[in-house]
Parts: sequence; C-alpha cells; structure tokens
Amino acid sequence: MERTLIILKPDAVQRGFVGEIITRFEKKGLQLAGLKMMVIPKATAETHYAPHKERPFYPGLVRFMTDGPVVVLALQGVNAITIARNLMGATFGSKAAAGTIRGDFGVSNAYNLIHGSDSPEAAEKELGLFFKSGELVDWTPTIQPWIYDLTGTKPE
Ligand code: RTP
Ligand code: MG
Repeated sequence: MERTLIILKPDAVQRGFVGEIITRFEKKGLQLAGLKMMVIPKATAETHYAPHKERPFYPGLVRFMTDGPVVVLALQGVNAITIARNLMGATFGSKAAAGTIRGDFGVSNAYNLIHGSDSPEAAEKELGLFFKSGELVDWTPTIQPWIYDLTGTKPE
C-alpha cells in the first residue's frame, strides 16, 4: 500500500469544499490514514514548494498557501499517488477535465483547491513535513476485502 500527502488548500476550506473533496476520495476507495486542520507556517510552505523556488509564481504560491487554514490528509491505497492525482485533475482549474476536483470546483489557475504528492519520494518527504510520527494511523477498514481482491498474492 502506498501513502500520499493531500492538502485541501485555503481556497477549498474557505469555499466549503472540505467535505465534498474528502468524500470523493472515500468513495473511490482510498483510505484515510491521517487528517488535520492547520495554518501552514511560512517556513513549511517554503520547504514544501522548494522545487518551485525559482519560478515566478513561487512568492505568490507561498502567500496563498499560508493565507488561511488548510486540511491535510494522508491517503492510503494501492497506487494512491497516481489515483489521487487523477481525481484532482490537471494543475490549472481552467484546463482540468470535468469530473475531476479541479475541473468541477474551480476556474482559477493559481487557486486550484488541492495539492497531491507527485511521486513516492515526494510523498515520503511531504508526509514527514506535515505529520509528526504518531499522527498517522495504521488501521484496516473492515470492508477492505470488498475494495480489493485479496485472494491472490497481492491486492488487485
Ligand atoms: P500541487 O503541487 O499543488 O499538487 O500542483 P501541481 O503538481 O498540479 O502543479 P505544480 O506545477 O507542482 O505547481 C504547484 C502549484 O503552484 C501554483 N501554480 N501557479 N500561476 C502559475 O503559473 C502557476 N503555476 C503553478 C498552483 O497552485 C500549483 O498547484
Ligand atoms: Mg506539484
């Protein structure tokens, strides 16, 4: 099972989409392994988006991400990183396909509602940045045998 770090960005919280977005992940079958509300400290936002440090949008991105409360999630599942990114949709709300979170809930390119880790390496780093050890919960949903075919050597 893979874990990914999801952030419901300040625009998602302000616009009241927290429940609807989490519901989409739950309905898909991704499992919650961590959940909390916070205001991201500036230094944490800078570290999180450090790969974009040289980009012109970086200062505005850090300001946006620290401008109000966010909800951070750890989601778990087979291929959770890719599955979550597919549910999120393309980066820009103006271009994201209908049916995706960004495609359905926003028109803005900068205020695009949600972050998701883009690789296993990024997920590990980001989960460590936003969750202390002990804040993530190991549990198995009782419905797991109906989410995956568990009769073989690995979940299918
Ligand atoms: P994220 O990291 O937030 O999950 O988004 P992403 O992978 O789809 O896109 P990325 O290229 O990593 O960009 C990070 C965030 O920066 C903002 N952005 N603004 N104004 C612009 O041209 C621009 N480009 C990117 C967006 O908030 C984007 O999610
Ligand atoms: Mg990114």
